[in-house]
Amino acid sequence: MIEKKEVGEKAIEFINDGMIVGLGTGSTVYYFISKLGELVQQGLSIKGVPTSKQTEKLARELGIPLVSFHQIEQIDVAIDGADEVDFDLNLIKGGGGALLREKIIAKAAKTFIVVADSQKNVETLGTFPLPIEVVPFGFEMTMKYIRELGGNPTLRQRRGTPFITDNGNYIIDSSFQEINQPEELEKNLNLLPGVVDNGLFVGIADTVITIVDKQLITRVRK
Ligand code: A5P
Repeated sequence: MIEKKEVGEKAIEFINDGMIVGLGTGSTVYYFISKLGELVQQGLSIKGVPTSKQTEKLARELGIPLVSFHQIEQIDVAIDGADEVDFDLNLIKGGGGALLREKIIAKAAKTFIVVADSQKNVETLGTFPLPIEVVPFGFEMTMKYIRELGGNPTLRQRRGTPFITDNGNYIIDSSFQEINQPEELEKNLNLLPGVVDNGLFVGIADTVITIVDKQLITRVRK
């Protein structure tokens, strides 16, 4: 928790008055959003674009003004967490099920900054089962195709029923052992019938704020 707070709050340094800010989802970016709420109360003028209904609710409670895509052309900076981060700043995201809106917002942002505690850093992606958002219709077939790509898919459940995303879809979690070619896997998964998007974020993150050897560090994509 202390690490999450440290990296989350550090991201505030990337925010300037007047910015449109993408607001991520999860327990790390929670600390960024809380701090942002405090600054808004003190007069900072920004507008947020939330990546989930959960974040939308939090932002509203904190008094952060929100906008949607029909009101803006671009996002200045988006801040979000991750489930895994590799040395090239490629990510696995979607542990909270918000990966689709997270990817839309991250890609729309001029700068995408990830806040990740030390546990999230990996040499190779793939220990964390990859979340894949699929349409409910025929998901059994989509699972079969994921198996054919080398995955070991399971349908995400909550209290005995399928987990439903903010977009009305299912999440399939699939381990792939080591993901040595994340860019190829991201594309191949998205070609499968029924797949809406997957939690591989390749070449999108510009900066990762994290902890290594108990030190807060900022890694920038080469
Ligand atoms: C939400 O769908 C995810 O992509 C989160 O950003 C990711 O799971 C990190 O969450 P925590 O900060 O809670 O670990």
